[in-house]
Amino acid sequence: MQVMAGKPVAELIRQRLRREIEELQERGIVPSLHAILVGNDPASGVYVRAKAKACQELGLSAETHHLPADTAPEVLSELIAALNRNPQVDGILLQLPLPPHLPTARFLSEIAPEKDVDGFHPENVGLLWQGRPRFVPCTPAGIMELLRFYGVELSGKRAVVVGRSDIVGKPMAALLLAANATVTIAHSKTADLPAVCREAEVLVVAAGKPALVGAAHVRPGAVVVDVGVNRVEDRAMVARLFPGDQDRQGELSKKGYTLVGDVAYSEVVEKASAITPVPGGVGPLTIAQLLANTLRAARLRRG
Ligand code: GUN
Repeated sequence: MQVMAGKPVAELIRQRLRREIEELQERGIVPSLHAILVGNDPASGVYVRAKAKACQELGLSAETHHLPADTAPEVLSELIAALNRNPQVDGILLQLPLPPHLPTARFLSEIAPEKDVDGFHPENVGLLWQGRPRFVPCTPAGIMELLRFYGVELSGKRAVVVGRSDIVGKPMAALLLAANATVTIAHSKTADLPAVCREAEVLVVAAGKPALVGAAHVRPGAVVVDVGVNRVEDRAMVARLFPGDQDRQGELSKKGYTLVGDVAYSEVVEKASAITPVPGGVGPLTIAQLLANTLRAARLRRG
């Protein structure tokens, strides 16, 4: 059984990027990422701060534009337009979710496609599905790096993706397909989810439901990637999922929650041949890929 930690993979990506950053810096170019955060969702705040910190650690410039939750649509549009026009801005990231009065699809479409480091603009989504990607969404791109690092073969394999979000599920399916896997996308309306998941030699779970996938969903020897990051406050649930894990119980007491994946780790670990932990699996790769996409944006526009 292989525990697929994300850190060594993220470190390898960072090493690659450091060389590229030095080359750009020698030409006087400091790639820049501008993140837009609307409102006060605590998890979004944590993510945006982590992204900015990662940029700065690597010598990229990072700026966060924090707008109030009741921001008018025109104000957000004007900010995006200003960043689109500004030649000093390489990457633009609109942190999701947006408050309900701001239609996500509209604003994602307003970001200049050549600065869209999340790869969420319709043009970039289309390019990905055509097999000529410009910006690959960070989490699925990171998972592909992880699978490559741990030597997971994909060609000809049965892959099941649980979750059909625009951020993870759909682009993940596109990438697995491009790698010649036979891909099924399962979701909340899928009939007999355990049976569909048991088909999978590679199972990627991105449903946003704590411990949705248990031993009954897993084919013996499957490779399991857990994309879920769920804040769980229920002490009994945590005790059931992580029996005897004193560190987690301690964290729960201190913070009021602990992070739990979409996979019931302690039971699935018995059946899988490889599995990602939460935290410390996919998470570190998402940010490393964002740095990679920001560099790519700088190179695309500035040559
Ligand atoms: N919210 C959750 N994941 C993401 C992501 O990868 N990018 C953005 N912009 N928002 C998110």
